[in-house]
Amino acid sequence: MTIMSALTASSLFTSSALRASKTTTTSSTSNKNKNKKNSSSFVVCRSQKQQQKTSASSEKSISLLAPSSSKNECIQQIAAKSKAPPPPAATGPTPTQIAAGVFAAAAIGVTARKAMKKKAKKIVIAGAPASGKGTQCELIVKKFGITHISAGDLLRAAVAQGTDDGLKAKEFMDRGDLVPDEVVVNMVKSRLNEPDCAGGWLLDGYPRSASQAEALSSYGIEPDLFLLLDVPDEELLERVVGRRLDPVTGQIYHLKFFPPPDETVAKRLTQRSDDTEEKAQNRLKVHHANVNAVLSKYKNIMKTIDGNRQKTTVFKEIEGLIKSM
Ligand code: AP5
Repeated sequence: MTIMSALTASSLFTSSALRASKTTTTSSTSNKNKNKKNSSSFVVCRSQKQQQKTSASSEKSISLLAPSSSKNECIQQIAAKSKAPPPPAATGPTPTQIAAGVFAAAAIGVTARKAMKKKAKKIVIAGAPASGKGTQCELIVKKFGITHISAGDLLRAAVAQGTDDGLKAKEFMDRGDLVPDEVVVNMVKSRLNEPDCAGGWLLDGYPRSASQAEALSSYGIEPDLFLLLDVPDEELLERVVGRRLDPVTGQIYHLKFFPPPDETVAKRLTQRSDDTEEKAQNRLKVHHANVNAVLSKYKNIMKTIDGNRQKTTVFKEIEGLIKSM
């Protein structure tokens, strides 16, 4: 049974049960005034079940407690006296409906558990500086709603907050070197343990070395898919120096390849301090020195994607890979 059919079955059950209870409520409410006018009839009906209770609340409880057949008889007698057409019979769900509801609820439980399992996508996205990891992550998050964790963003946030880890990381980031494991490993591990990662995650820019990959495994954290964006170095340098960030929306732009939509946005764009050609050269060198150790660890789940195409074309391929997980 699919989620839709399970949900439909359940909602049919629920709405029919609700409709039934609504009918009961409406009947008893609409008859309340009539009951006042025809109090003798009502007393006769009530006396079959309980005697001499006069408060409105007890009237209500009597009408609810009465077996549906006698309750219906009462309602119909009152209706006949007041010459009003008899209201529809108040019926609760039949045993078959209840069984169908229980079955539908159980089916939803099973289907939801299966869907949760299927939804827990654990993905790493890797590639050289400016290969388009952040750009693709924006599109993946939009499409699949997976929690995005960028090691670079975590580090930049720590730097901005001036934490001890941030202060340690800053000098390495300014040079374009890898931040030491003692800072970055725990930072990423803690983030992965947050509740929003329970349904899956998209890890961007981690692991970047053999020791980081080992650390991830030692915590029992294993991705199911490792995406590698492949872009020639000469293209990367142009992407780095032209990159701009919108501090309001978080959108990544490029002055040439993906310019801002208007002057207002253009005016507020910022540039990362490590997005100079000189620093980018060092970041590329560091990337090439470490990437092979990481790739060999994940070769069984690795998919290499040509990242030197339109970002939407790149995303189409990634989308297909994620859908087939
Ligand atoms: P981090 O922030 O991760 O930087 P990076 O790896 O160098 O990657 P970038 O963010 O520069 O690029 P990207 O691949 O996300 O490309 P984007 O989509 O923005 O790390 C920064 C620093 O933190 C590191 O140097 C290091 O010091 C430290 N650090 C981070 N992780 C660490 C770790 N695990 N261990 C230790 N230290 C760590 O795109 C770039 C530009 O290209 C944009 O302008 C975009 O619009 C454009 N673009 C994107 N796609 C296309 C396309 N298909 N065609 C044309 N243009 C495109």
